[in-house]
This record gives sequence, C-alpha cells and structure tokens, in this order.
Amino acid sequence: MAEYNLTIVKTEYLLPNIVSMLLDISAVTEEIRPGQFFQVTCGGDTYLRRPISVCDVTVYEGHPVLRLVLEVKGKGTHLLAEKKVGDSLCVLGPFGNGFNLKDVKKVDLIGGGLGVCPLFYLTRALLEKGVETRVFLGFRNQAAIFLTEEFKALGADVTVSTDDGSFGEKGYAINVYKANYTGKPDMLYTCGPQVMMNTVVAFADEQGILYQESREERMGCGFGACLVCACKMQDDSMGHVCKDGPVFGTGMVAVGGKVAHHG
Ligand SMILES: Cc1cc2nc3c(=O)[nH]c(=O)nc-3n(C[C@H](O)[C@H](O)[C@H](O)COP(=O)(O)OP(=O)(O)OC[C@H]3O[C@@H](n4cnc5c(N)ncnc54)[C@H](O)[C@@H]3O)c2cc1C
Ligand code: FES
Repeated sequence: MAEYNLTIVKTEYLLPNIVSMLLDISAVTEEIRPGQFFQVTCGGDTYLRRPISVCDVTVYEGHPVLRLVLEVKGKGTHLLAEKKVGDSLCVLGPFGNGFNLKDVKKVDLIGGGLGVCPLFYLTRALLEKGVETRVFLGFRNQAAIFLTEEFKALGADVTVSTDDGSFGEKGYAINVYKANYTGKPDMLYTCGPQVMMNTVVAFADEQGILYQESREERMGCGFGACLVCACKMQDDSMGHVCKDGPVFGTGMVAVGGKVAHHG
C-alpha cells in the first residue's frame, strides 16, 4: 500500500449521478485485487479521504488503468466528479483483503445498486480463470441501472432485475436469485445495501452455501486506528471493515453487524 498521484485519462457519466473515471496506473507496481479499495483525496476543505472500490483494472489506449465508479453524494464525491482528464488524483492503497477466488469452479454473484462496482472486476477475474459465473444485478428501477451491458460484454451470464419491474425481472435481486437457483455454487459473492446482503447471507446459511460479502461502513483512517468502521463479529469481537475486510466470509460478521455509533 502506498500513496500515488494518478492521472485521470477518461471520465464519463454513466448516469446523472454516477461517474466513471480511468486513472493511469503505469507507475503502480503492486497488485490490485478484486474487492480492494482506495482512499481518495477529494480536495477543497474535505479532510478525510473517501473510500472507493476498485471497479476494474484494465488497459486503455495502451496504458494500464484503474477504474473507479462513484456516486455523487456529498461534498467529497461532488469535488471528485468535477475532476477533468489530465488532472491528478491522490490515492492511498490498495486497501483491504479483497475477494478470495481460490478453489472455485462455479460461482454466483449478487449485487445491488452501487455494490455492483466491486463485482465487476471480480467477474472479469473469475471469467479469466475459466470459472462458470452467474451474475444477478438488482436496481431500484430502470433509471438506476448502470454497468449491466459491460458485465454482459465480459461474457458473464447476467440477470438484471428491478424492484419495481420497470426493467428485467421484477423483484429484489435475492428473490430473483432464489427463483433461478440451480443448486449450490462453490461460492456466493455479494455486495450491495446491507439489508440486501443480510437476506443473501440468510439464504446462504439456510442452503449451506459458502459466501463472501463485501461490506461498506463509513470510514475514518482506513487502517484500523480510529474504530469508525467497526462491525460486530459472530464471536462478539469487533472487526474493522478497513483492516479485516471489506470482504468477510461465511459466519464471520454477526447478523446485521452494525455497531451502535452507526445508527
Ligand atoms: C470499502 C468501501 C468501498 C466503497 N466503494 C464505493 C464505490 O465504489 N463507489 C461509491 O460511489 N461509493 C463507494 N463507497 C461509499 C463512499 O465512500 C461514500 O459515498 C463517500 O465517502 C461519500 O463521501 P461524500 O463526501 O461525497 O459524502 P459525505 O458528505 O461524507 O456523505 C454524504 C452522504 O453519503 C453517506 N455516506 C458517507 N460515507 C458512506 C459510506 N461509507 N457508505 C454509505 N454511505 C455513506 C452519508 O451518510 C451521507 O448521507 C465505498 C465505501 C466503502 C467503505
Ligand atoms: S476506518 Fe479507522 S479503523 Fe477502520
């Protein structure tokens, strides 16, 4: 993990509130794995860096690039969205353990909303390893859909659903997954709103499926010092999403997992 000043080589709005950025990583020598994230300096009077997942690592116009996809929410992400091609972004990372891709031949992925971002690079990596990969992507409605065509272009078997049925299958991604359940995969990977992941984990536990969930908590330091990202583990200890995660495996995090100071 190190600090880098990366040049932006492409920016693109995928939706009015979702920006995709490609950053030149020619100078980055360490491996960047699916499920890891970077702490990004936003500028202005924002003091804390903002955690953003690795959405992809690929090649653009002959250069290796890191792709970040971010939702414009508050002050920090607004400032990031104003950056232009040629600007540099100060990032610290890569942080986190990332997804484990070992010993899997057939897997299912369930992503919801912004949680589809880290699953994109995971899908690419799984397909490159020859793993049979089914992807279930859920969104609130048609207007909230992004990245799905790019998942398909990777060659994955993709099912898109919307809560209100305005596009694709109707219903929550977990219910669409249950309706298309073809038996136990070697691993079920999930990332999305906590309420969605709770239902995915409950189904995985019920069926005895091994799973990996990528959790999102508010973060301060990013390396285990401030406790802002604490979550409750099943053995009653406290885990740190930044240091011990963000990916947690079967039976690690207590149901829900949130601690009191996160509301
Ligand atoms: C490991 C990890 C990976 C992430 N990956 C991505 C990603 O790939 N793309 C992306 O757009 N966002 C991602 N996030 C969320 C992102 O970090 C926050 O949206 C961002 O920090 C908000 O900063 P802001 O200054 O714009 O908003 P703030 O002014 O800090 O907050 C604006 C709103 O965002 C909410 N918010 C702030 N932080 C979080 C958070 N961590 N989770 C949920 N809501 C939050 C606040 O409650 C508030 O409602 C990730 C978070 C974590 C912990
Ligand atoms: S963000 Fe500070 S301990 Fe995790």
